[in-house]
Amino acid sequence: MSSVAFEAINWNRPTSELAQVFWDQQWKQIWFPEEVAVSKDIKQWQSFEHQDTYKKVFGGLTLLDTLQTNVGMNEISRHVTDLQEKAVLTVFGSFEAIHAKSYSYIFTTLCKNDEIDEVFKWVQENEFLQYKAKKITDIYESIEAGDDASLWKAMFASVMLESFLFYSGFFYPLYLGGQGTLRNSAEVISLILRDESIHGVAIGFFAQQLFAKLPQQKQEELTVWGYELLLDLYQNEMKYTEDVYAGTNVADDVKVYVRYNANKALMNIGLEPMFPEEEVNPIVMNGIANTGSTYDFFSQKGATYAVAKVAPITDATFDFSDKGLK
Ligand SMILES: [Fe+2]
Ligand SMILES: [Fe+2]
Repeated sequence: MSSVAFEAINWNRPTSELAQVFWDQQWKQIWFPEEVAVSKDIKQWQSFEHQDTYKKVFGGLTLLDTLQTNVGMNEISRHVTDLQEKAVLTVFGSFEAIHAKSYSYIFTTLCKNDEIDEVFKWVQENEFLQYKAKKITDIYESIEAGDDASLWKAMFASVMLESFLFYSGFFYPLYLGGQGTLRNSAEVISLILRDESIHGVAIGFFAQQLFAKLPQQKQEELTVWGYELLLDLYQNEMKYTEDVYAGTNVADDVKVYVRYNANKALMNIGLEPMFPEEEVNPIVMNGIANTGSTYDFFSQKGATYAVAKVAPITDATFDFSDKGLK
């Protein structure tokens, strides 16, 4: 008989100071793709010039969210020991499943079945997409029980996926939405992006707590490992961007946005940014803040989406200094 008693989760006694904060924020943001009127994009879609790029972008995003649903959140949650943090990660996993499904909703609204099948086939065949999926999955699947360093690596990989790798894809719908093109599909992406920003901050924060407990030599080793992984993923991401955006004139702008978000990913994990500051195309920033004249990303008063009133996310949402944490 095992001598370890099974422990029940007790939310009355906080064991992780921020689990409740992340839990509350994520649930306040609940949304479903079917509540966004993507069908209003059909007319523009029919005459849209770069359908092929758009479909590939969404295919790539679907793969990342599938991976994050089925492997990322599950594996990290399985190895985290704090029961409240486990619960938060499980909730995050449910949102990943919503994200992965939401691209199919857009596909089914805009495309014919044989076109959709072609995109999903392309996902399996694209070497750059498969490369990043394998790289991240291998790290998720290499967590050793009781080993904080390998758990930190998985958290690092997760933050890279959520705060960095998604953005080569997010760019396009945001860029178009910022100009009033396919605005409702862009609204779905804005809702996904809003979840990913919590996930990046939360897992980055959990990772920083683990990191702080490790000996200095291990910290240095992991820091080098982290930058090397980022560089490897970055080089692949540049090739992916050139491949997917061939035929459009936005690849250079996508690359800037990717570097900008790589820096943000590093900051989430508590490391110094790696790329020099560059100005992101203002249309993309506009696409995040306001995908149309009646859409307000921060106060949830979308033209087509208004289920829950959510307190706006600001820098203060993630300012934990009053909780005695950095
Ligand atoms: Fe996601
Ligand atoms: Fe996520």
